[in-house]
Amino acid sequence: MNTQQIDLVRSSYALVEPIAPQAAEIFYTQLFAADPSLRPLFRGDMAHQGERLMGMIGSALTLLDRPAALGSVLRLLGSRHKGYGVQEKHYATVGGALIKTLEQGLGDAFTSEVRSAWVELYGVISRTMLEGAREPVLA
Ligand code: HEM
Repeated sequence: MNTQQIDLVRSSYALVEPIAPQAAEIFYTQLFAADPSLRPLFRGDMAHQGERLMGMIGSALTLLDRPAALGSVLRLLGSRHKGYGVQEKHYATVGGALIKTLEQGLGDAFTSEVRSAWVELYGVISRTMLEGAREPVLA
């Protein structure tokens, strides 16, 4: 990601943050419409889950300046996701739901540059999580 893309995701995230509960609702509606078989993987309270996703993306944004720290956090997160029953193919479904959520939540502010910046960020996050998911689990 280049610095301009990092600035774009940061400024657009700041617009979504105040409407996080609504964004979470749009996100899960989109996600379960795209793949209803994902529903049983989520056992916790949905509202809370949405906050976690937004919170995690928020912390990824602050950590973007410290790639080494971000890498280890995301690899561990990916390894935990394997334990939740998440498969590699699910990352694309979640990425699609995230982009649709931002599209609805941001309206006109979701320009093609903002879209590309988010696609790039989600790609970096999910590739790093998948690296962690593929690593052997240390006993
Ligand atoms: C950008 C990618 C993602 C981020 C940042 C993310 C973030 C998180 C976080 C922070 C948690 C809380 C638990 C923990 O820290 O271990 C969590 C749980 C979970 N995530 Fe993700 N996640 C991502 C992708 C996915 C994908 C692709 C799936 C596939 C369906 C998924 C399904 C789940 C499930 C099932 C849980 C456990 C929820 C429960 O028990 O209710 N996540 N996620």
